[in-house]
Amino acid sequence: MALKKIRRKMGIRSKFVVMLGAFGMIALIAMGYGAYWFSVKRTMSEAETKANVIFSYIMAQRSYFNQYQRPLINVLVEKDRFYPELMSQFGITRRTLDLVKDELSGYLFKQASMNPMWPDNKADLQEEKMINAFRKDRKTRELDGMLEKGGKTFYYMAKPVRKVSKPCLHCHGKVSDAPKDLLETYGKKSGRPWKTGEVPAAYVVYVPMDQAISDARRTAVELFAIGAAIMLIALFGIWLFLDHRIVKPLTLLSDMTEEVSIGKNMERTLYSERMKDEVGGLAKSVDRLRISMVKMLKRRQGD
Ligand code: HEC
Repeated sequence: MALKKIRRKMGIRSKFVVMLGAFGMIALIAMGYGAYWFSVKRTMSEAETKANVIFSYIMAQRSYFNQYQRPLINVLVEKDRFYPELMSQFGITRRTLDLVKDELSGYLFKQASMNPMWPDNKADLQEEKMINAFRKDRKTRELDGMLEKGGKTFYYMAKPVRKVSKPCLHCHGKVSDAPKDLLETYGKKSGRPWKTGEVPAAYVVYVPMDQAISDARRTAVELFAIGAAIMLIALFGIWLFLDHRIVKPLTLLSDMTEEVSIGKNMERTLYSERMKDEVGGLAKSVDRLRISMVKMLKRRQGD
């Protein structure tokens, strides 16, 4: 009801400006949100590329180890000896990635396992879900998306570690089979017993997203603020234009016509230079009406 009253009281100028302002506001919000959405999407696809680069390096390093280093190490190192820095492929990957982590601040890498040999590799709840997803559907070769970790937002990409085969059980199987050196370093319970055929772990790369998200948010707010400022100036211009070219000339015409209707200032022209365009046309027509009326009245008085 109150809205209706206000609407009735509002002139054409206010109605027009409010309507334009409302449309402009909707357009600005849509633009701001769209800009935010696009830049988060773009950052995600950049993060995906970064994660892929990191994975390519991890895999290349692993295949180099398998192909060239492992055979040589097996010849050079005594049978009962076990040096994780030299002989555990996962140990080498972990140590290398720890160094990369120092270089790429904010990034996280993990060879997450539910029952790891190295305690820091213990999967958290989110990583357990990833491993279970790989276990459930063996065809899944990759998972990715966004997640929160320790109050920070990350893009993550996870790939399954190839399933446990017989040779793995030498170290990840029965305690009695494991090299003594290994048991001394990692204990008897860690990283075993694993079952052949199961997916034991997942490699997970985390790319930090907080900076990108706050940049996207800032860009969206800036875009909105600049748009709103331009819109306010434009609305003020429209208001002035309507006031000058339509409302004031119309009010003047209406006042003068009213005077004529009660017999005042009958000889004064109703058209003025301020009345332009359609208002000018209207004023000329009304003025012709006034002239005809004056003539008619004079003729009557003459009779
Ligand atoms: C010669 C012993 C040995 C063999 C064989 C071995 N591993 Fe390991 N594995 C280790 C050690 C030691 C670590 C801990 C490395 C570290 O310090 O991070 C490890 C770590 C891992 C990890 C990282 C998570 C964790 O437990 O800390 C995965 C995954 C893994 N191994 C999978 C396998 C698979 C799959 C095979 C078979 C293809 C295999 N391992 C064979 C000794 C071995």
